[in-house]
Amino acid sequence: MAIGVFDSGVGGLTVHRELTRRFPARDFIYLADQANAPIGSKTGEEIVDITRNGCERLFQAGASVIVLACNTASAVALRRLQQTWVPEASKRHGRPVNVLGIIVPTIEAATGLPWTYEAERRGDKVEAIDITGVFCTAATAISRVYEIEIDKRREDLAVFSEPCPGLAGLIELGAPVEELTVVICDHVDALRRRIGRHPDKAILGCTHYEIVAHLFAAALPPGTPLIHQPTAVADALERYFERHPEYRLGESGRRDFITTGKTGPQSDMVSQFWGAPLSFDAA
Ligand code: DGL
Repeated sequence: MAIGVFDSGVGGLTVHRELTRRFPARDFIYLADQANAPIGSKTGEEIVDITRNGCERLFQAGASVIVLACNTASAVALRRLQQTWVPEASKRHGRPVNVLGIIVPTIEAATGLPWTYEAERRGDKVEAIDITGVFCTAATAISRVYEIEIDKRREDLAVFSEPCPGLAGLIELGAPVEELTVVICDHVDALRRRIGRHPDKAILGCTHYEIVAHLFAAALPPGTPLIHQPTAVADALERYFERHPEYRLGESGRRDFITTGKTGPQSDMVSQFWGAPLSFDAA
């Protein structure tokens, strides 16, 4: 049995790397659904189907707990799958299984509050508003998940999402740094014009963007804090496994990387991020 990690492509490796550092003895299977990547501009129904198929593939490969290392899948598909499909999958596979997302831990990190906290609205005047910018896919922006969930918890945080359609696809292809820099600077500038100033903090709300976090940091005013999803997700998963000893997660430190797309080595950008060449096998 293993921990499954799902993304449309290489973005989820950013989360996977942190999870394997945190749980080195556990077995991991990483699935990149590159045949369908990028998913961030697909319809809600398409994203649900792609996520469900990816999870089923991971359960069949032996995953017990799957982390959707993808904001788009977590924002659009997770709730739907958790309601009926996950309990049904658990029965079908004859063992406890679950699918977890990465937005809850990110919101906990952004608000400094536990997910279960809901602010009491007393109508007090809010003195100062901090602005959080969220760079994400079109589907995540349309879901408004960051705006809605942060507003429930913190009245003093305003959220502005900046959809960056096309950016995950460029990162997936390992586009040249110069090209990525132009696209990222354009989005940072578009967000600044929309808000009237730069955000006080930023969430890289698409796991692909974490691979080029340094380009976002360079495009934003120096010192702008970035909320890093990989650490937030690893923290949350550690707490989750303490509460849920029922999942069998493997103990041999196995690492499998599989793809629905082209097998073999990934782009130079991925090798650079990973610190070594990384090759995917057929899913
Ligand atoms: N990395 C994914 C995310 O966090 C998906 C990017 C895409 O396929 O468009 O949203």
